[in-house]
Amino acid sequence: MRAAAPPPFAVISGAQVQRALQGSEKQVVERAGAAYRLHGAGDSVNPPSYFLRFPERPTARIIALPASIGGDVRVDGLKWISSFPENVATGIPRASAVLILNDHDTGYPFACLEGSIISATRTAASAASAADRLSRDRGRPARIGFFGVGLNARYIHTFLAATGWSFDEIGVHDTSPGSAAGFCDYLGRSGATGQVTVHDDPESLIRGSDLVVFATVAGQPHVSDLSWFEHAPLVLHVSLRDLAPEIVLASTNIVDDVDHCLKANTSLHLAEQQTGHRDFVHGTLDDVIGGRVKLPADRPLVFSPFGLGVLDLAVGKFVYDEVLRSGALNVVDDFFHELRRYG
Ligand SMILES: NC(=O)c1ccc[n+]([C@@H]2O[C@H](COP(=O)([O-])OP(=O)(O)OC[C@H]3O[C@@H](n4cnc5c(N)ncnc54)[C@H](O)[C@@H]3O)[C@@H](O)[C@H]2O)c1
Repeated sequence: MRAAAPPPFAVISGAQVQRALQGSEKQVVERAGAAYRLHGAGDSVNPPSYFLRFPERPTARIIALPASIGGDVRVDGLKWISSFPENVATGIPRASAVLILNDHDTGYPFACLEGSIISATRTAASAASAADRLSRDRGRPARIGFFGVGLNARYIHTFLAATGWSFDEIGVHDTSPGSAAGFCDYLGRSGATGQVTVHDDPESLIRGSDLVVFATVAGQPHVSDLSWFEHAPLVLHVSLRDLAPEIVLASTNIVDDVDHCLKANTSLHLAEQQTGHRDFVHGTLDDVIGGRVKLPADRPLVFSPFGLGVLDLAVGKFVYDEVLRSGALNVVDDFFHELRRYG
């Protein structure tokens, strides 16, 4: 029997990732939805993320997200993503990442992709997919408010716009005036229509928005006044730790994965610690897609996506296939070298 060769090992740069994803927003949103359905059907392995933290650098962390997804994606892998918030002051992005794809049959890693664009893309695709599903009964919001406007807010706006959303009003709130100005500049360049307003206070942003996107780097809740939500907005709680437990408890809560979301001191985790139960979690996005959960229109509807590794794999495999198809795959020759068992 001839020995099988291991797959070639490829390195895919951020520039290649961006080219492969450009203009593919609708396809990527569909893939995110399909990944949720595979996960919901049990055709995935997605253990808890591992948070590497450092006693002497308390704001920094590196998270490992191992996962495996079946269906027609059929790949295993790992996202390894750093968050160093102090980077921003020195002019480089907070988050950096690689995504490793492993061959389903041999276990061999066959690609290392720049991961931060894939991560922001899958987060935005998940947000756009959730916004679409969760607004079907209550009607599409025409006033959106972005609470925290860094990289992920920009990607979320891009994905909403590319999948058919337009807004009469776009509200912006950020503790950093420079970030708010940069986001407004991006909105202008993106061709977004609608009135753009920078809100200095969070209350006016929330009261003036029917769709609120939280994408801050807050480590603990800083929004606790329930009256700001009396108009029952749809909330994409992407940064997971902004809302006080009392707001969580007064809302309909939809998650991507229950066990994942009730960990790591997210707002939902704090609500569970406060009440001793999880009854305030109404279901997953897959439950909504499958029609297994009702979404009352008279209370806030909060989507909290922990961010599943299976989504990174689904988007990463899409990128890999696109780069392979274009003939631009950069393979590292002889990457796997010691291949004969006895030399
Ligand atoms: N759930 C997921 O799947 C997922 C995926 C990726 C990122 N995230 C989270 O999204 C968040 C945003 O990521 P990013 O890459 O856009 O970060 P970023 O650093 O680029 O931007 C964050 C912005 O939030 C602002 N901000 C911080 N605290 C604030 C506050 N209390 N009020 C208002 N503005 C505030 C900052 O000034 C900054 O402009 C992070 O918390 C990240 O962990 C979640």
